[in-house]
Amino acid sequence: MAAMGNVVVNGEAADCISANDRGLQYGDGLFETIAVLGGQPRNWHLHIERLRAGCERLHIPPPAPEQLFDDFLKLPIDDRPRVLKIILTRGAGGRGYRPPDDPSPTRVLILGPWPDHPPANREQGVAVRLCELRLGSNPALAGLKHLNRLEQVLARGEWSDPAIAEGLMFDADGYLVEGTMSNVFIRANGEIRTPPLDACGVAGIVRRQIIERHTAAGAVVIERRMTLADLLAADAVFLTNSLIGLWAVRRIQLPDGSMDYDSQPLVHRLRIELGME
Ligand SMILES: Cc1ncc(COP(=O)(O)O)c(C=O)c1O
Repeated sequence: MAAMGNVVVNGEAADCISANDRGLQYGDGLFETIAVLGGQPRNWHLHIERLRAGCERLHIPPPAPEQLFDDFLKLPIDDRPRVLKIILTRGAGGRGYRPPDDPSPTRVLILGPWPDHPPANREQGVAVRLCELRLGSNPALAGLKHLNRLEQVLARGEWSDPAIAEGLMFDADGYLVEGTMSNVFIRANGEIRTPPLDACGVAGIVRRQIIERHTAAGAVVIERRMTLADLLAADAVFLTNSLIGLWAVRRIQLPDGSMDYDSQPLVHRLRIELGME
């Protein structure tokens, strides 16, 4: 939990929001999780762009980027790596589910500690498992980093073994979508592939960077539906998010055994391409 002073609500140091806030009542809002390195929020403009795009889809008036940056500057930032969480809700009010005609959004910025993942996750890759919980399909919400995260909460509750760093999630038709907190890529037949996010999943910032850098370099990342069989036939698998960057998957734990991969060399190359090494 962030200590008082590490939270700014609507531009003021505070630690609470109204019990009537629609973010609390209905998950009616969006969030961003941003790495703060050397006192600077990394990929700020990409996060702001995703937040704005989410606001447009949910019809929430977007805050001015300068206002959010002013909020950020009110946090006790230093040189230590930190995590900035921006939560934007539609605010309080409205009749039941019906959104208010003139919403007054709530901005919450929280500065939290950097996650203490073992360094080996980055240097040697991670073991992952397959989640039982299936992601529901909803094109109206697909790609958004909205506040309804119960699927991820239930999926992450499926395991407590610290040796398993992430769980892979599938949709109800058995197609791979993403991890509980990350996007997923595979390499097969020399191609880098990632699941399309037109029915569910979060359109990650690092996912976007990989697709754009690769395309700029004349290669392509193919967005393609993949089954468990495709995953098992891949020669490399990796995960991405704004805090972990890229993690190679070295093992997938299966209900009846496991599958090993040599994904680290590919991840190493991509990190260099993305300036993350
Ligand atoms: C469910 C889910 N998918 C994907 C991602 C990756 O998104 P990003 O690269 O923007 O961090 C996250 C990040 O937390 C996530 O929670």
